[in-house]
Amino acid sequence: MTEVPVHLSERSYAVLVGSDLMDRVGEQVRRVLPEARVCAVVTDSTVGRLYGERVLTSLRRSGFEPVLITVAAGEPSKSMVCVEDVCRHMIRAGMDRTSFLVALGGGVVGDLAGFAASIFFRGIPYVQIPTTVVSVVDSSVGGKTGVNTPEGKNLLGCFHQPRLVLADVDTLGTLPRREYNEGFAEIIKHAAIRDEAMMELIERLAGAEVGGRTEALVALVARNVAIKAAIVAADEHETAGLRALLNFGHTIGHGIEASAGYGQLLHGEAISLGIVAALRISEDVVGLDAGASEKVIALLRRYELPLRLPASITTADVMAKLSRDKKFMAGAVRFVVLRALGDAVVSRDVTMARMEAAVDGLR
Ligand SMILES: NC(=O)c1ccc[n+]([C@@H]2O[C@H](COP(=O)([O-])OP(=O)(O)OC[C@H]3O[C@@H](n4cnc5c(N)ncnc54)[C@H](O)[C@@H]3O)[C@@H](O)[C@H]2O)c1
Repeated sequence: MTEVPVHLSERSYAVLVGSDLMDRVGEQVRRVLPEARVCAVVTDSTVGRLYGERVLTSLRRSGFEPVLITVAAGEPSKSMVCVEDVCRHMIRAGMDRTSFLVALGGGVVGDLAGFAASIFFRGIPYVQIPTTVVSVVDSSVGGKTGVNTPEGKNLLGCFHQPRLVLADVDTLGTLPRREYNEGFAEIIKHAAIRDEAMMELIERLAGAEVGGRTEALVALVARNVAIKAAIVAADEHETAGLRALLNFGHTIGHGIEASAGYGQLLHGEAISLGIVAALRISEDVVGLDAGASEKVIALLRRYELPLRLPASITTADVMAKLSRDKKFMAGAVRFVVLRALGDAVVSRDVTMARMEAAVDGLR
């Protein structure tokens, strides 16, 4: 087991990355919440079926009294209605400010349950147990919680740091191949912006079965968590410009995701296209070496991530969706570019016309 610390003064916590952790949830939680007793385990219908009972059993063995709350699997559960349902369920179960919450699942459950924890009795502790690639390397660390509204994604929420993150790579073994691969878009992004040397490890894991090569996977996840943790520690509330670097590939990627029909592209697949566009823009704006772009693109290809825009998505639609993105609302476009592998910066020199050309270039 590898422990990655997230340094945030009195809000600091550990991310434990390893295998075979599901039966040790209770003992690990007991270390950070020695006095606690009653808790809610919030999960979704798929993850609950796979891992719910093991987590409940482990918590009970350590003297906790857990109540299981299951939401429907999928993005629609990230809603205010669902937050209220979860909170009311907890109230009816007799929970109060001495209780805590466990988020067991992917980024949807983590964001939803973290937000519920942040407002329940004005804020209670919570523990993240991420079970998707995106959630182990990204969403479970950093304390961003929230839900969507019909007007847009992640528009309501707050920062609420977990007390502990338990990342068990064994859980990744039950993901469908496509969902497993899409998470690697974020891993490849981390390598591109911060850690060129990690590309070799990503390449080595490419031929493995889903969730296979446990030791290498633990090493890869821990390295990604460390990258995210360092950025979060330096810029917790995304005010210093550093945390914004994590948006590499996301500006255009979000526009593509919003333009695609339901189910056509997974989030990571849209981000893959966004990364390709951002690489081309980086070549134009800050002179990124084309060979460096090709190294990143080769990795995306190894994980079967899309490099070409589906014909049904028009450039005009992507541009329209993009300008409605919340990152554009302030007016000035702040676009993350790569000067070299591992060296990302925010540029204000990326015009809409240049972005449009990069989207066209994806055909
Ligand atoms: N808070 C943050 O910093 C942050 C960062 C990135 C993404 N996000 C959010 O995360 C969400 C996406 O997260 P996600 O990609 O994990 O999606 P998700 O939580 O919807 O999970 C994807 C699917 O996989 C299933 N699943 C989860 N774990 C499984 C397992 N081990 N085996 C089999 N099936 C499993 C789920 O039931 C779901 O159907 C988005 O809402 C996004 O906005 C948040």
